[in-house]
Amino acid sequence: MGSGIAITIARSGIPVTLFDPAESALERSRQLISDFFNTAVAKGKMTPEDAQSAISAVSYVSAISELKNVNVVVEAIFEDLGVKHEFLNAFLANAAPDTLVLTNTSTLSITEIAAGCARPAQVVGAHYCLPAPLMKLVEMSRGLQTSDEAWQAAWRFQEATGQLPIETKDRPGFILNHFCIPYHNDVIRMIESDIAAPEEIDRAMKSALGFAMGPCELIDLIGLDTQLRASEAFFAVTNDPRHAPPPLLRRMVAAGQLGRKTKGGFYNYSKDAIFGG
Ligand SMILES: NC(=O)c1ccc[n+]([C@@H]2O[C@H](COP(=O)([O-])OP(=O)(O)OC[C@H]3O[C@@H](n4cnc5c(N)ncnc54)[C@H](O)[C@@H]3O)[C@@H](O)[C@H]2O)c1
Repeated sequence: MGSGIAITIARSGIPVTLFDPAESALERSRQLISDFFNTAVAKGKMTPEDAQSAISAVSYVSAISELKNVNVVVEAIFEDLGVKHEFLNAFLANAAPDTLVLTNTSTLSITEIAAGCARPAQVVGAHYCLPAPLMKLVEMSRGLQTSDEAWQAAWRFQEATGQLPIETKDRPGFILNHFCIPYHNDVIRMIESDIAAPEEIDRAMKSALGFAMGPCELIDLIGLDTQLRASEAFFAVTNDPRHAPPPLLRRMVAAGQLGRKTKGGFYNYSKDAIFGG
């Protein structure tokens, strides 16, 4: 998710520093980002010069101390409140006083993320859609302590980077995941109950409902580990059984079948790119 968000910012001409403590994740991001822009050139959607300047706008660091001159941080760590707090507080300890904090959570409360941070008034929810470089929608929400200044600055940031912000309340799942998390869990339970194979479910949903992607294709793109973490976080708040992770999801994650990121989930993937171009 972080790589896709970095693309939306870099192509607007804004320099991006991509931080991840895992060198392997940084290497993967570097590859995804350069593949995205090179594919855009090959498809005639960008000039080689524009693509090169967007690629050069992104730098990669694996230590928080290397995050310097940051006006806006877009946090896209996996769905774990404690890990998000730990990063944000370590970052804010040396950040400029007016640094804006956008958090890309799918299910956690913006108010709770903000409340555990040193500067809660500057935290705004910004839930991007996957794949971020192709999907303009960003669901924006305020925490109880978010200031009007931070809210307006976050809105302007989305518009400046060509995204389409829409306002939602600070509720688990916002708009999209209110539907998508239980829908995806229902589909996984259908597969587990042997009602239909992934290919058949996808074909049915695309053909009958006009969806661009079938649910199994979409879960593979989102990542089964992300679906698992989001379901756990969502269920913990709502106690709705449809939000609880199905056993098959847990088994596939345990087996490392995470979807496109591991080249296999409900489908097998060879060398096709995640974002297209
Ligand atoms: N995948 C989606 O479809 C999707 C869509 C919208 C929002 N989100 C949200 O985006 C966030 C990230 O999801 P994802 O699917 O990209 O997860 P992911 O597990 O694929 O990636 C998370 C990244 O965070 C890195 N990380 C771990 N600890 C860190 C730390 N302390 N500081 C910085 N980075 C750290 C990991 O190395 C990893 O590269 C989650 O909150 C998720 O709910 C995901």
